[in-house]
Amino acid sequence: MNSADVRAYYERNTRLFLALGAGRRARTIHRAVWASGIVSADEALHYTSRLLLHEIECLRHDRLAAPVHIIDLGCGVGGTLFYLASHFDGPLSAVGVTISPLQVRLAREQAARLGLQDRFQFIEADFLCLPDLTPADIVFSIEAFVHAPAPERYMAQAARVVRAGGRLIVCDDFLSPRAANGALTAQEQRWLRTFQEGWHAPGLSSAAQITELAGAHGFKLLDDRDLTPDLRVLSWNMGVIDALIRLGRLTWLPSAYWRSTLGSLALQQCLKAGLTTYRFLVFARCD
Ligand SMILES: C[S@@+](CC[C@H](N)C(=O)[O-])C[C@H]1O[C@@H](n2cnc3c(N)ncnc32)[C@H](O)[C@@H]1O
Repeated sequence: MNSADVRAYYERNTRLFLALGAGRRARTIHRAVWASGIVSADEALHYTSRLLLHEIECLRHDRLAAPVHIIDLGCGVGGTLFYLASHFDGPLSAVGVTISPLQVRLAREQAARLGLQDRFQFIEADFLCLPDLTPADIVFSIEAFVHAPAPERYMAQAARVVRAGGRLIVCDDFLSPRAANGALTAQEQRWLRTFQEGWHAPGLSSAAQITELAGAHGFKLLDDRDLTPDLRVLSWNMGVIDALIRLGRLTWLPSAYWRSTLGSLALQQCLKAGLTTYRFLVFARCD
């Protein structure tokens, strides 16, 4: 699985993800987080954007002279950046990076509709090999890091584009310590494999592994929030889901969307069995 596969996956499926997924209105391709006090799907889909907004406000309060510059590595069609544009009280400029030309087009169209085209740039690039970008105050990835076939290259590139004293924020699925270290049953291995194959997620690692990697690139972990309890997982019987996964793997149709759906079912099993967690990690770039 390499960046070209991920690009093809999003070129084929972005419109489907937006049309059939929950994030159509929010223009997001990520999960809803039903934290305490969240009452609508829109709010749940923007919960991680709200956490980001809080980080931007804290950093600005502590150390920043306006304007604030941010970079979204794996920006999808820009939903998170548009949320930040409309909720941050101050001048903001942004670069959204995605491997998918279709996503760039859709994000640019929306930026123009919102009158943001001068301050919000969307570019097609591989975050494992970034072009020269102005270092940002905050660089983040929501559900994109896991796509990196080489997490160490992601981290090296992130270190290039976060300014000293700035923040790197990674919100994604992570292997639990048991899954990272322990022996798994054949069934658990199947769930993890089906998730990783279906979602093109070769970069799935533990939070400890990422923290160590980040440390090697000059980042210090400031906050590690476990959002797993606030995800809504399928209440179906695990045996039934497992049977569907087995059947799905046997009939592995040549449709990336079908494999992605099977990956979603497998992820539900991984979450319920404690193999993966969904976390929001905040790192500071040491000066
Ligand atoms: C699950 S989507 C999340 C999109 C967005 N962060 C959101 O929350 O709506 C994953 C994103 O990561 C991007 N991505 C994956 N691998 C990438 C790479 N190597 N370089 C740049 N973008 C990448 C995809 O193009 C897609 O935009």
